[in-house]
Amino acid sequence: MKENKYSAIITAVGMYVPEKIYDNAYFESILDTNDQWIISRTGIKERRILETGATSDLASNAALDLIKAHDVDPEEIDVIIIATVTPDMLFPATACLVQEKIGAKKAWGFDLSAACSGFLFAFQIGCSLVESGQYNKVLVIGADKMSSIIDYTDRNTCILFGDGASAVLIEPSEDKSVGLQDYILGVDGSGKNALYMKGGGSLYPPTHKTIDDKMHYLYQDGKAVFKVAVKGMADVSYELMQKNNMSAEDVAFLVPHQANLRIINATAERMGLSKDKVMVNIEKYGNTTAATIPLCLVEYYRDGKLKKGDKLILSAFGAGYTWASTYIVWAI
Ligand code: COA
Repeated sequence: MKENKYSAIITAVGMYVPEKIYDNAYFESILDTNDQWIISRTGIKERRILETGATSDLASNAALDLIKAHDVDPEEIDVIIIATVTPDMLFPATACLVQEKIGAKKAWGFDLSAACSGFLFAFQIGCSLVESGQYNKVLVIGADKMSSIIDYTDRNTCILFGDGASAVLIEPSEDKSVGLQDYILGVDGSGKNALYMKGGGSLYPPTHKTIDDKMHYLYQDGKAVFKVAVKGMADVSYELMQKNNMSAEDVAFLVPHQANLRIINATAERMGLSKDKVMVNIEKYGNTTAATIPLCLVEYYRDGKLKKGDKLILSAFGAGYTWASTYIVWAI
């Protein structure tokens, strides 16, 4: 295999969550549900909701937070990749809208659709562009306004999701002991009917009937997804550890996609990790789809818990099905 010229490292991070909160008490007031059921089955207490604006606003705010926190010149950004399943429009790409909003005058970019695995897929592409020596600054953003595709009369799904965005900047480093080390990515289209939004694309363009049939909302077979997600995320995380001869002691943190605390705990158990080695913030934000993993990274980094040299396993499972596990060494 051809040796990469550089290692791809995260040099800057940023995040944005809207102020409006839907807590479990809110859902108790509009649905037949209760706080205790939601917490015990999912681990979620609150989610953030964007009342005005779209995914490009979430993504731009996360990028601007990164730019401000790390004193980055937006005109030096080469590429913008947005992982999302809730683009502002089918086209143009949300990346174009973000490029304009943050003043990244020299950047090109595109959107990537891989649902809950979207951030890790986009991160992989971003790292490849940097490792090859082609580009110096690639901005990868996970952003989703899930509230735009959620049916708030469906108690099976609406309690799970929230809105948010988080960004990382990837740059080259000559020190190969830090940055992206290894990864396993996969898709299996046989899962296509377990979690999807049926309407609005070329198969079912919007009509009065597609609206009446609620085809523009997220649909999920919760039990089916739960079963494969528990096994899928645990298996791929364990496989990546094995592949890299890592023991539980070597891992500083598992950074899991935040869909359900029970899926997170099962993955940690399979990897032999204690609770203090698992990044969790699902109680505050719910499932923000492409944003969950970078939101964890930013919060733990800013709290001083994530340190240079820490070995991290980032893992996700989602609609498609899609899955990803990525081994990085934190570099800042
Ligand atoms: N409040 C109260 N009861 C609820 C409820 C709610 N918000 N939502 C569902 N229920 C009910 C169901 O209707 C069902 O009742 P029934 O048996 O009378 O039909 C009962 O609770 C149990 O449902 P079940 O599906 O067994 O619950 P569960 O333990 O599987 O938990 C999910 C439901 C959705 C939390 C769980 O399946 C899940 O997390 N799935 C995967 C979600 C996920 O990860 N999605 C993203 C993938 S990236």
